[in-house]
Amino acid sequence: MAHKRVEGAALVTGAGSGIGHAVCVALSVSGVNTLYTTDINASGLEATETAILNLKLPSPPTIKSIPGDIASPEFITELFSQISFLDYAINCAGVLGENKPTAEVSLGEFDRLNSINYRGLWMCVKEELKLMLKNDLRPYPSFTLSEQEARIRGQRGSIVNIASQLGIVGKTQASIYTASKAAVLSMTRSDAIDYSKPPHHIRINSVCPGIIATPMTSDENGEVSERLKNAINIAPMERMGLPSEIADTAVFLCSGESSFITGHGLVADGGYVIN
Ligand SMILES: NC(=O)c1ccc[n+]([C@@H]2O[C@H](COP(=O)([O-])OP(=O)(O)OC[C@H]3O[C@@H](n4cnc5c(N)ncnc54)[C@H](O)[C@@H]3O)[C@@H](O)[C@H]2O)c1
Ligand SMILES: *[C@@H]1O[C@H](CO)[C@@H](O)[C@H](O)[C@H]1NC(C)=O
Repeated sequence: MAHKRVEGAALVTGAGSGIGHAVCVALSVSGVNTLYTTDINASGLEATETAILNLKLPSPPTIKSIPGDIASPEFITELFSQISFLDYAINCAGVLGENKPTAEVSLGEFDRLNSINYRGLWMCVKEELKLMLKNDLRPYPSFTLSEQEARIRGQRGSIVNIASQLGIVGKTQASIYTASKAAVLSMTRSDAIDYSKPPHHIRINSVCPGIIATPMTSDENGEVSERLKNAINIAPMERMGLPSEIADTAVFLCSGESSFITGHGLVADGGYVIN
């Protein structure tokens, strides 16, 4: 079992499925004390809570599940009115949208996808930053040679945005999705410039997952579609990633182990973008 790398309070959006679910499990195993979860799918949140209780951890986190639609400003207000302290935030909520080339995409679909992947994530980051700015600077809790080193490596908070390898490279019939993920990467860089420096000390990074085995990448019968098989083989590792592999990457970026990494888009894709 991992040592306590992420003590404190964490918020995970999109926590009711796939990557968000795995992030909740990884944070719990890594020592988080309070876990706020949110998703539009309330039964998904219940399943995540049950999965964490079933781990039978010696000191499980206190879990508060707050279901709602991240695209709604009213819900964002309600969500953050229930959170008074926050050390880590992992923004996983997102949708893939329809497979269509630009000329066939409706304005409604463009707005729906961006209201979740970009605008919804932005509304969360804004509130997460406001909470983290109120925190004291916490020294790096794991091994260092001196107290000074622990202080230099300290942080007030850490935000991880789940972007995509498709924020870096293009894909057929996915232009609005790829653009929404490029927006997340760009926002991450600019926010990192504003908030990583003293006196703020909040690191903001993205993860760019490759093709991960989650409900997003399976069709109705839970099978991987023919179209996706080609995409999987673009990655030199010739397999899908597991949600736990993205979750471990996200926990690393939350923890002080990544104390000099900010504004980065960490690619965890089995080599997809190098090929
Ligand atoms: N699976 C992949 O191959 C892959 C690859 C790269 C990036 N990603 C990204 O990872 C993130 C998680 O994806 P996943 O694969 O776990 O998918 P998933 O569909 O399993 O989980 C996404 C979760 O987001 C929630 N959600 C959707 N719309 C919402 C809204 N309006 N308000 C609140 N919650 C909402 C869903 O209910 C769901 O629980 C997404 O941002 C996705 O774009 C996934
Ligand atoms: C909501 O979550 C439940 C439990 O994990 C799942 O069975 C169901 O398919 C999800 N619904 C949607 C619309 O994603």
